[in-house]
Amino acid sequence: MSDKSSHNTNLMWGGRFSSQQDNIMETINSSIEIDHRMAMQDIEGSLVHVKMLQFKKIIPTKICNNIIKGLKVIQDDVIKGKFIYDRKFEDIHMNIEKKLHDIIGDDAGYIHTARSRNDQVVTDFKMWIRDSTQDLISKITKNMKTFLDTADANFNILMPGYTHLQTAQPVTFGHHILAYVEMFERDKERFTEAKKRLNECPLGSAALAGTSFPIDRFFTSERLGFDKPMSNSIDAVSDRDFALDFLSASAICATHLSRFAEELVIWASDGFDFIEISDSFSTGSSIMPQKRNPDAAELIRAKVANITGSLFSLFTILKGLPLAYSKDLQEDKELVFRAYDNLSLMLDVMNGMMAGIIIKKDNLIRAAASRFITSTDLADYLVSKYNYSFRKSHHIVGKLVIKAENLDCDLKDLKLSEFRKIDPNIDENVYKILSIQNSVNIRTSYGGTSPSEVKKRIKEWKKKLK
Ligand code: ARG
Repeated sequence: MSDKSSHNTNLMWGGRFSSQQDNIMETINSSIEIDHRMAMQDIEGSLVHVKMLQFKKIIPTKICNNIIKGLKVIQDDVIKGKFIYDRKFEDIHMNIEKKLHDIIGDDAGYIHTARSRNDQVVTDFKMWIRDSTQDLISKITKNMKTFLDTADANFNILMPGYTHLQTAQPVTFGHHILAYVEMFERDKERFTEAKKRLNECPLGSAALAGTSFPIDRFFTSERLGFDKPMSNSIDAVSDRDFALDFLSASAICATHLSRFAEELVIWASDGFDFIEISDSFSTGSSIMPQKRNPDAAELIRAKVANITGSLFSLFTILKGLPLAYSKDLQEDKELVFRAYDNLSLMLDVMNGMMAGIIIKKDNLIRAAASRFITSTDLADYLVSKYNYSFRKSHHIVGKLVIKAENLDCDLKDLKLSEFRKIDPNIDENVYKILSIQNSVNIRTSYGGTSPSEVKKRIKEWKKKLK
């Protein structure tokens, strides 16, 4: 180290500096508390980079081997949790390079030939997101299987279907649960597409302009599991679309979980009493001994905010940011890591909660028999049997509903003579038409709620998820 740089703690870029960095500057500048999570990706990237440098005869074999030996020691330390991260060395890249210098001495200086932290960080970050995306896809699949089992076990159980959270038409419980399996499938597709799109390697773009060293970017790209090197070095160091893709897929998936969590909260409430969440996923109240609270579902409902928040934070960071690299981009990782941690937890908790959920079948069926729930069936029947216009039928049924309301009973409790006063054509068939079981049984349109259709969809999903 020169005299000058000895004033500055930074071994990597301290050459032109003659005084120490302010402590508060170190606080805002350092990212090691966050980006230490990319240690393994950083080492993997460096190992491949130096092998390429040696292969292209840019660095001597002896130095390359020395660097590899040193990096392996560091890798081992990281795995064993023995590596000590120091904020004086700013970020994960410089922490590892400093440690390499401690282990192998000045040969460590050759590692940064033909690269910059700008291409290094984005390569590490892409690899981290790639691994985490795969992990989330597995967790979504696990949830799909659990939801599918619940749907299968209750495929024909009747329940009220809602619009505006007002009782609308009877549906089957299996049908309702399968709606979430469909959502999860789209989530998986979004993550899969995002993973595919991110898989181009930025390494070798150096600071922004590429390098004059005769590097082989296809060598590094292939060995790091990318499909190809990115073809514009300025784009490569500035692009964070892949992080937006990840956050947006995460936000949508978390939104689905939040919607279902809200349904669980409603279903577990006294007014509904459709389900019981197991003890292992419920909490009690410190003051009201009778309470059993659906905290897990409520927290899933809330945690989505963290993820959509991260997505909008990154949009805000990127908006108006000129090409190429600016330090603003360092703020991207905290957002992505936080989103991943939250979504991963939400998926684990949802899966655990669903696996132990108790479905109160009798209560669902009782609620499905709620007053007037099959009014639409009667209107449809009048249309198909007597060729009435739908408006005319709708009007007739509306009148019947008023009549039943006045008599404080359901449509099915009206005498045939009462029906006939409103429309003399109505015959005894009306009672079958008004039955809730009949209502779901006849909804055999593709994707409809009839038990036979639901069973078909369950079969298809089972095959797909095997
Ligand atoms: N820690 C930095 C980041 O996360 C690494 C890149 C630093 N590059 C630079 N030119 N200062 O973005």
